Amino acid sequence: MDWGMKNRLSQLIQPDGHCFFLPIDHGYFQGPTSCLEKPQETIKPIIGYCDALFVTRGVLRSVIPADLNKPIILRVSGGTSMVGKDLANEDVTTSIEEIIRLNASAVGVSVFVGSEYEHQTLMNLSKLVNSCENYGIPVMAVTAVGKELEKRDARYLALSCRIAAELGARVVKTYWCENFEKVVCGCPVPVVMAGGPKCETEKEVFEFVYDGMQKGAIGINLGRNVWQSEHPQAVAAGLQAIIHKGADVKKASEIFQELKNGRKGSTKRKK
Ligand code: 5RP
Repeated sequence: MDWGMKNRLSQLIQPDGHCFFLPIDHGYFQGPTSCLEKPQETIKPIIGYCDALFVTRGVLRSVIPADLNKPIILRVSGGTSMVGKDLANEDVTTSIEEIIRLNASAVGVSVFVGSEYEHQTLMNLSKLVNSCENYGIPVMAVTAVGKELEKRDARYLALSCRIAAELGARVVKTYWCENFEKVVCGCPVPVVMAGGPKCETEKEVFEFVYDGMQKGAIGINLGRNVWQSEHPQAVAAGLQAIIHKGADVKKASEIFQELKNGRKGSTKRKK
């Protein structure tokens, strides 16, 4: 592996081998997602707990300060919307020149295995790997399911993750599921977990993240379950403790409660 690739990966994956990525890319197909209407406000209280920001070029350029001291994972696939025919019909939206110009530490692209656009999205990944590897830029594959959330079981996710890794992804982002070890075991590159729609309680989030970490994930790329919480900063602190400080669910919940109850100042999300 060349120095540039190693350097970028080391910005994203911390010396303990773990990572906490914060995705705010949802608007690229969902529009002004709840609690993400003003992404610059959303990230303010939580960015300090995270290792990298996952974002599109439009939001990055328009509202993210250029002196933000966090590596950027650039979302480079899209071209569909929630109200369109099929979320899977994605293309690569960003040129390699743009990726370099924006000083991205990595890029993220979705693949929709088993969909009508399986071939197209797998080729998006492959072609992106071809361009990005030339410049030492890691590609993170996102195993997307569109609106078919029920697809998220170990058999399907293991298949998607393995295919993405075989095609050259340096990191794969997938959903947590029951028997998550089956997903990780079959994937030769590091796996990070997305959260999906918001859980009922923060404890549920800590539980699945802790379980996934025990089963071999290297970290999270968790959005809605952080910034749609009433207490985003408290959730982020609990998650950071699981990812980087070896905390279990009990400890993470204590950290959450302590911040939520304002012993260190109010952390409630502003409406
Ligand atoms: C949206 C994405 C998100 O980055 C990913 O789904 C993680 O966010 P969340 O935890 O909210 O699911 O790829 O397209």
